[in-house]
Amino acid sequence: MAKIKIFDTTLRDGEQSPGVNLNLSEKILIAEQLEKLNVDIIEAGFPAASKGDFMSVQKIAQTIKNSSVTGLARAVQSDIDAAWEALKDGANPRIHVFLATSPIHREYKLKMSKEQVVERAVSAVKYASQKFPIIQWSAEDACRTELPFLAEIIEEVIQAGANVINIPDTVGYINPYEYGKIFQYLKNNVPSINKVCLSTHCHDDLGMATANSLAAIENGATQVECTINGIGERAGNAALEEIAVALHIRNDHYKETTRINLKEISRTSSLVSELTGMVVPGNKAVVGRNAFAHESGIHQDGVLKEKTTYEIISPELVGYSSNNMVLGKHSGSHAFKSRLQELGLEIADNDVKELFVAFKELTDHKKEITDEDIIAIVLEKKLSK
Ligand code: KIV
Ligand code: ZN
Repeated sequence: MAKIKIFDTTLRDGEQSPGVNLNLSEKILIAEQLEKLNVDIIEAGFPAASKGDFMSVQKIAQTIKNSSVTGLARAVQSDIDAAWEALKDGANPRIHVFLATSPIHREYKLKMSKEQVVERAVSAVKYASQKFPIIQWSAEDACRTELPFLAEIIEEVIQAGANVINIPDTVGYINPYEYGKIFQYLKNNVPSINKVCLSTHCHDDLGMATANSLAAIENGATQVECTINGIGERAGNAALEEIAVALHIRNDHYKETTRINLKEISRTSSLVSELTGMVVPGNKAVVGRNAFAHESGIHQDGVLKEKTTYEIISPELVGYSSNNMVLGKHSGSHAFKSRLQELGLEIADNDVKELFVAFKELTDHKKEITDEDIIAIVLEKKLSK
């Protein structure tokens, strides 16, 4: 049984990336791919935010069977009601209620005292527990909250019925050492902490989201919140692919596993990049174009002698073919069809013919056709149906 649960928030925090706006069919394609990737939980959106968000969360909850689907809610009854209406038909519905706890948020944003924040959080969790079997509560800006107050409010929400407690680094401020210490503090100072699952949710403002998430795991977190390609608010969220692969490659150290189907990583990354328009930087860990490329003569020589000299991750592990066959205007339908198969795209013969025509047209404008181009051609066809 896998120990670390992967909570994917590509469709909620990821969709909060400036400039990203996915429509219903695009969200469903991503949710289906996340299910193939075997994520434990899909945060499908924020049902009270808009009619469109409500409808997409509802549709995803009705469609997805092998991952639990959740939705975000502020600590107010109308948000919790909207989340229930959207999620109630799901296979395994859960809610994610949040309220800020830090002095900065209490004073400037909420204009509430500590007591009022506790009271609001407790009554929201109690209300949610009348409807939902699983309730996650997040202390927004937890990492800038006074630790005794954080411990106090967490104990209160657990007593009120929360099953999962999330400690977000909302503004990407913490470092791995300090974050680990927060988890240790909570384990020692929240009497009911062992009754719940502890979750980590990190932003990448200082480039430490993955390292912080791993530090949380080392200190007792059993759920990680992350997004594909690390997309999300501002500098983004912890990248799912980095965490899942780090736990796999460095299992000697972390001794933890996930249920993630690593081979689906490349396909998921390309799909999310294509549909969100957020290009994956070439040097991005695990899924960047250069992640498995070797440029210097010394490195090339080493890799030709023995791959592991400079490669700690094999491209095949995360679903990239090591096949260097370049597709371009001279390629025939056979090579095209076999690349579709390598990419795991199951397509009927008739459709392959149509896609091949689109592929040939593209070769008039582009010298080398990449896997991302092929996925784009397939998506365009799927979405136009
Ligand atoms: O970053 C954050 O604090 C969030 C919460 C809603 C969990 O996204
Ligand atoms: Zn966030």
